[in-house]
Amino acid sequence: MRPQTASRTDGSILVSQPRLRTVVVLAAGEGKRMKSALPKVLHPILGRTLLGHVLTAAAPVSADRTLVVVGHGADQVSAHLREVAPYAEPVLQAEQHGTGHAVRIALESAPDAGGTVVVLNGDVPLLRPETVTELVAAHEAAGAAATVLAAEVADPTGLGRIVRGGDGGLEQIVEERDATPAQRAIREINAGIYAFDAALLRDALGKLSTDNDQGEEYLTDVFGQFAATGETVAVHVAADATETLGCNDRVELAALRRLLRDRVNEGWMRTGVTLLDPATTWIDVTVTLGRDAVVDQNTQLCGATTVGPAAAVGPDTTLIDTTVGAGATVIRAHAMGAAVGPGASVGPYAYLRPEATLREKAKVGTFVEVKKSEIGEGAKVPHLSYVGDATIGARANIGAGTLFVNYDGVNKNHTVVGEAAFVGCDTSLVAPVEVGAGAYVAAGSAVTKDVPPGALAVTRAQQRNIDGWVLRRRPGTKSAAAAERAGQEAPGASEGEPIHGAPVAGEGRPASGDTATE
Ligand code: UD1
Ligand code: CA
Repeated sequence: MRPQTASRTDGSILVSQPRLRTVVVLAAGEGKRMKSALPKVLHPILGRTLLGHVLTAAAPVSADRTLVVVGHGADQVSAHLREVAPYAEPVLQAEQHGTGHAVRIALESAPDAGGTVVVLNGDVPLLRPETVTELVAAHEAAGAAATVLAAEVADPTGLGRIVRGGDGGLEQIVEERDATPAQRAIREINAGIYAFDAALLRDALGKLSTDNDQGEEYLTDVFGQFAATGETVAVHVAADATETLGCNDRVELAALRRLLRDRVNEGWMRTGVTLLDPATTWIDVTVTLGRDAVVDQNTQLCGATTVGPAAAVGPDTTLIDTTVGAGATVIRAHAMGAAVGPGASVGPYAYLRPEATLREKAKVGTFVEVKKSEIGEGAKVPHLSYVGDATIGARANIGAGTLFVNYDGVNKNHTVVGEAAFVGCDTSLVAPVEVGAGAYVAAGSAVTKDVPPGALAVTRAQQRNIDGWVLRRRPGTKSAAAAERAGQEAPGASEGEPIHGAPVAGEGRPASGDTATE
């Protein structure tokens, strides 16, 4: 709940009403040094854009209005806002005449915005919500005209310096390029995050000059104005200076990404997740993991991914918007938009595409690709298969090299494999087709017609053995020599003998163990 500090007279009755708050995010700059077609604030790190991180940090302000100043790439930035923060209102700053100019334009677009105005640079993704909360609380408790978030840093290059007077109070904020050598030696910097009294800020913005090295309206000059006129200005020093780091080029972007990775990873390890190699484990801020989950090295968990308790993921795995159930294992896999059930196993070397769903204890093994298909409870697709647009029943077994032929060049068609069906190796299931519950398909078949429950389907030609062929047609070869060493009884086998390695209908021989791999 907000403090009820603002009041006004309404007729004869004094009405106390909630303090209004407005958030203004500055995001109109080009970010020249990024050398990118993408506006700087739209570059992502670990699941959110720079701007997305800043908006998340600003969430606890519970602003009545959130204004985002856009300019460079305004259309792209506005579209992004509609997607991730529909409550935010883009305000166009067609020409960028400085941070003061940007805030002035924002407030002019919102004449009703009063109370506290929280201003944030759009490129400080490591800022924590708690820090914004503390800044605003300190500002409102002090009844200050303006409060700036500051940090003590080892290298203040390029940043505005906090210049304090003899009494320790803030005197002004000076940009490096306008600073004296003595001011440049100051290591206390302006993070570009502030809280202001709205009415005083509006007034001060109207008086900004452009008398500085860049000929811009500096928001920071408001502090000097207030200090000179005796208004209360306050400095809130961030406990963790890394929170205030901005992003100006891709080297800094990578550094911020590493810092955020370390923060996220530490958080998960403290909640009971094992990360075998945190330095090569990249977990988006949007991901959740259960207790005793284990993440092995070189693994990326992205977007809306969730990993259940005691699941094991990695090494060398990328999961995007994928759900992994409790106790499941996912090894050397790439998955997007997939769901891996509890106790299921994936990989090594598997590719799960959108709407791949593995039910409990299902298995998708090595060199298997699955798209828009359900693999039933305990069903197995262990090796070298493509499964697309299929429903595979519980405990079915799909032999190595099985292809679900789902595309006829025009339409995608569906295949159903019934419960506990057994599909032999090197089989094509040409959709739309159904293999009934408990049915068998002989290895090497191309199935184009439905197989009734419990039937065996065989579609290949019968095998013919031509006795003595090698000795006659390939004399003198190593094969011929081997045939000779094997003796001359072999030619006695007649043509039409049961085919080795696969069952034939009516032959009475069990197909299992011959038609499919385990
Ligand atoms: C600003 C501060 C500096 C502080 C630093 C922290 C001023 C004058 N200086 O400097 O004291 O240490 O941030 O990172 O404020 N922007 C607009 N419209 C504009 C100009 C800028 O929207 O006309 C936006 C940019 O997109 C960016 C933010 O404001 O998100 C800061 O602008 P930038 O040019 O990076 O300011 P700095 O020079 O870094
Ligand atoms: Ca900057």
